[in-house]
Amino acid sequence: MKRIFSGIQPSGNLHLGNYLGAIKNWVELQNKYDPIFCVVDLHAITVPQKPKELHQKTIEVAKTYLAAGIDPEKSTIFVQSRVPEHTELAWILNTITKLPELERMTQFKDKSQQNNQNINAGLFSYPVLMAADILLYDTNVVPVGEDQVQHIEITRTLARRFNQMFGETFTVPEPHVVKEGMRIMGLDDPTKKMSKSAESASNYISLSDDPDTVREKIKKAVTDSEKEVRYSDDKPAIKNLINIYSLLDNIKPKEIEDIYRDKRYSEFKTDLAETIVGFLEPFQEKYNSIEDNEVLKILEQGRIKAKELAEKKMADVREKMGLL
Ligand code: TYM
Repeated sequence: MKRIFSGIQPSGNLHLGNYLGAIKNWVELQNKYDPIFCVVDLHAITVPQKPKELHQKTIEVAKTYLAAGIDPEKSTIFVQSRVPEHTELAWILNTITKLPELERMTQFKDKSQQNNQNINAGLFSYPVLMAADILLYDTNVVPVGEDQVQHIEITRTLARRFNQMFGETFTVPEPHVVKEGMRIMGLDDPTKKMSKSAESASNYISLSDDPDTVREKIKKAVTDSEKEVRYSDDKPAIKNLINIYSLLDNIKPKEIEDIYRDKRYSEFKTDLAETIVGFLEPFQEKYNSIEDNEVLKILEQGRIKAKELAEKKMADVREKMGLL
């Protein structure tokens, strides 16, 4: 069975972009693949985190996976820092990564602009740790949003380079992105992606937003100048809202266009808000019913499974490189 691997940083409130770009696809793919899902806490600390919050957020992200439908019977769920082979392989891969390859990364450029007081070495070699995450587990497919595709490209380059230098060791992975969900845009600015680090909370729908907040945010969401509900690249704001609607309700964008052809934005927005509320309410109910202790147990079982695979792969890597 082919393997999928993916992860999310515990570094802020998870939002609808994370769900539609990543987690929703994981839930669907977990039945067809051998799935591993990670909470990537070592990636999160490339920007300053408060220890207590990081601890709590790590548990919350795992709880989000479970509440969204990741089944621990089918999927391995674990925390990155609990399997130290990730950092060991990252170090090794650092030694075969060229600086210009990292300088090109758009996420590095964006993040170093946002944190210009703390452009640390970890932020720079962040994609190398991500490559290690993926390559440790012979991953075939990596389901992510579009912003991560560049990191999967560099992962592919590093896998091929290592294989060439030391002999066949790593599987070369493919990205998996879903067209409508790959880039959910900000509600306040459809030219930028929905982001947990956005300045204003009206940029995103958090997975913990209550119904009134959702209604308020959708009402305020920017729309385009003409008043027509049309799915088109020249109407990025409405296109984004249609994508959200389409993915949550499993209706094609064109069908949504047909339904709202002669209707007004306000009607479309009211229905969209109710669709989002209809998704969030059962999700939050499930989320609130899961105890932290239950999550910790699942993470420990996941750690044991992941560790076994990671140890095997690292033994192979060390031997190939001549490390004693
Ligand atoms: P992170 O934590 O920033 O985001 C988690 C996932 O959510 C997707 N995503 C989006 N998708 C659509 N529209 C958006 N507006 C949007 N915002 C976020 C991301 O593409 C991602 O799939 N480096 C990764 C985490 C990582 C990882 C890995 C992923 C570490 N190791 C190995 C896959 C495999 C990150 O920062 O994701």
